[in-house]
Amino acid sequence: MHISRLKLKNWRNFKAGEIQNLPDSVYVLGPNASGKSNFLDVVRFLRDVSKHRGGGLQDAIERRGGVGKIRCLHARNDTEILIEADIVNEDGSPIWKYELGFNIPPKGKRDPKVTKEKVTVFGDEGRPKILLNRPTKSDKKDELLLRETHIEQISANAEFRELADFFSGTTYVHLVPQLLKFGDQIGGRVVEDDPFGQEFMLRIARTTPRTRDARLKRIEAALRTIVPQLEDLKFLKDDITGHPHLEIKFKHHRPQGAKQREDQFSDGTLRIMSILWLLQERGNSPLLLEEPELSLNEEIVAQLPRIMESVKTKSRNGRQFIITTHSQALLSNTGINPDGIVIITPSDDGSNMRNVSDSEKAALAAGLSAAEAVLPDARKTGQLSLSI
Ligand SMILES: Nc1ncnc2c1ncn2[C@@H]1O[C@H](COP(=O)(O)OP(=O)(O)O)[C@@H](O)[C@H]1O
Ligand SMILES: [Mg+2]
Repeated sequence: MHISRLKLKNWRNFKAGEIQNLPDSVYVLGPNASGKSNFLDVVRFLRDVSKHRGGGLQDAIERRGGVGKIRCLHARNDTEILIEADIVNEDGSPIWKYELGFNIPPKGKRDPKVTKEKVTVFGDEGRPKILLNRPTKSDKKDELLLRETHIEQISANAEFRELADFFSGTTYVHLVPQLLKFGDQIGGRVVEDDPFGQEFMLRIARTTPRTRDARLKRIEAALRTIVPQLEDLKFLKDDITGHPHLEIKFKHHRPQGAKQREDQFSDGTLRIMSILWLLQERGNSPLLLEEPELSLNEEIVAQLPRIMESVKTKSRNGRQFIITTHSQALLSNTGINPDGIVIITPSDDGSNMRNVSDSEKAALAAGLSAAEAVLPDARKTGQLSLSI
């Protein structure tokens, strides 16, 4: 399953926006501070709302500092925040539609309330069936019920548990090389779901040897296409401390320099390896990945989509990934599915999001790379609006 369409109203710096026909590899492209992370945050928000434990609407809003922080500063009379998400099967046929609106009520207790919650399921012939449409009669009788969504309640979401699980299984990662390398030494608090990769080595260690070896072999093969000297990548445990480690062996090195452990890898190498690992982790829910181009040189960044797609395909993982990037190089690879490109452009009235246009698709079909066909526009507007 994957998200094929998102429609937003008053979400952070998007006053309104819609994108559709998304495939299972999505690249969200825009300049600095254009709203790429805000875009991912929609999916994270749906995850936080749908979680059975430590989740729910109130919690998801609070974590973000309240409705005032989420609601678009450019919102005018209509202040409701609204999210619509369509979920499709691998073959693109619709399965679910989820709509969630919320706001602070104009009078009375100023807790955020659900203004709309609607769940539609699509049957075999694509026939829609509405499973939930709030506010219901009981919501109107007891407005306190509108503090909670039905998707967050096990007792209320039985008919669409699959959808709740889809959202709540979402993984968000913003890998920090130092935490990947020295996580066990730094210690300290691990943020929920470990988005920064602090426990990454443990995650690898916890995988069964067979799966682990198969995944590492695929990473090794992919890495070798950009680092030909690479001979072997393996997992081992330190004899003395028992700590898990990754080790790379290079050809043509002096004997004592031939092996490197993860704390000696370059930041970029470690990030690529982690990304390639994550792409193989099982799950039916989206994997959200922030700016994989950080600490990599442009030639390698240009190879990333190819490598990622190949590892994803080889591991037969249909999991959707949504990646943010401001790198022209990342999209210089021809062969990216144009439907998977989301372009974000800032304006005075908040940012806009859009799919690739027909003329841009024609340019792509004629052999131009995504960077050439799409980016000039995305960059031009971006230069003017660098804000913090
Ligand atoms: N509710 C909001 N209304 C308007 N702008 C917002 C809101 N919340 C955040 N922003 C702004 O959105 C901008 C883009 O943020 P972000 O998604 O982090 O950009 P990117 O990831 O593309 O660098 C930031 O400048 C931030 O101040
Ligand atoms: Mg960002």
